[in-house]
Amino acid sequence: MSRYFVTVARGLENIAAGELSAIGSTQTQCVPGGVYFEGDQSTLYKAHLWMRTGNRIFLPLRDFPARNPDELYEGIIKFRWETFLTGKKTFAIDCTISGQHNPDLNHSQYAKLRVKDAIVDRLREKTGGRPDVDVENPDISISVYIRDGHCTLNMDATGGSLHERGYRSPDAAAPLKETLAAGLIALTEWDGKTPFIDPMCGSGTLPIEATLKAANLAPGLLRDSFSFMNWPDYFEPRWKELKEEALSKVISVSPGQIFGFDQNASALSAAKESMKLARISEGKIEFARRRFEEFVLPEGLQPGVLIVNPPYGERLGDVEELKVLYKLMGDTFKQKLKGWRAYIFTGNLELAKHVGLKASRRFELYNGAIDCRLLKYELY
Ligand SMILES: C[S@@+](CC[C@H](N)C(=O)[O-])C[C@H]1O[C@@H](n2cnc3c(N)ncnc32)[C@H](O)[C@@H]1O
Repeated sequence: MSRYFVTVARGLENIAAGELSAIGSTQTQCVPGGVYFEGDQSTLYKAHLWMRTGNRIFLPLRDFPARNPDELYEGIIKFRWETFLTGKKTFAIDCTISGQHNPDLNHSQYAKLRVKDAIVDRLREKTGGRPDVDVENPDISISVYIRDGHCTLNMDATGGSLHERGYRSPDAAAPLKETLAAGLIALTEWDGKTPFIDPMCGSGTLPIEATLKAANLAPGLLRDSFSFMNWPDYFEPRWKELKEEALSKVISVSPGQIFGFDQNASALSAAKESMKLARISEGKIEFARRRFEEFVLPEGLQPGVLIVNPPYGERLGDVEELKVLYKLMGDTFKQKLKGWRAYIFTGNLELAKHVGLKASRRFELYNGAIDCRLLKYELY
């Protein structure tokens, strides 16, 4: 058994812990921005296959005092780097320093250099070799976190963040992170069977994540490589077996249930391109160019979930125009969506007041550094 740590957008820790319990992790502990979890190698592989909200998974290796560059060097050189950096494997170091009490160690670039020296010196002594640094595409990613004179050394099991599912069209403009979109959908408690509408879908992240969920498609199936595949204990037969098992669990999604509308034609082309890259077949999501001002429910739909991530407005002029749009959302929900649950995800709490309906729940979330809310409206 090992103890791992997965990073998530703040506000999604409980959702992430639920996902980890569903794949068999018995111990989970939420902290702001992440979840510690326990499990064996299969748990780690399943987390990479099945988690929809996690961004990066780490294996914590050591904790030690690092009040100055020498203590940092001593702590790093003690780790058995020769077991990870075998053969011609390359590595990269990510170093973060925070807190107040690191007077002799307050530049992350310098700290990174000391970490690199310690790793190289250890390997030179133990193997006579010297590994290469590759910042773009390393085999082994090392994460060093120094806070208040204390260092936590982690091995990054994931490599590129899990939000990079592999379906993003290069033409998408300012999309939601896939992992955040999946978390928002989880917060709506949408069951994957009733209708789902995003009336301002942009590049389609919410409808695509909804379809992956409805199809019970493990998002890790869309990606070919993770850093743990370069670890000395990587057991490919087990990974393949878990992938096969995940493939056998995919179910068919009925057409005419999931919709994405937007006024912007190029955003919709990016959405359709992303849908193909996500291997979602034509017709499973109905994308159409439509202004919200002309919103009508597709005919014959039972009530379901509508979720919208409207513009937040960066300039003052935008904000004035957007007040009208936010008011229109409230009016439309009230008049046209009886029996539905509607959700607005916004980073502008002032604009949210113009919706004019009382939210029955407010979820606090962070989109990067932006303080956001997911607002729930129950429309009786
Ligand atoms: C914040 S973006 C949505 C991003 C999206 N969630 C994604 O992941 O790509 C807001 C979207 O609202 C659309 N939009 C703004 N006003 C609209 C309106 N009146 N009718 C329809 N779409 C609108 C914009 O074209 C833009 O794509």
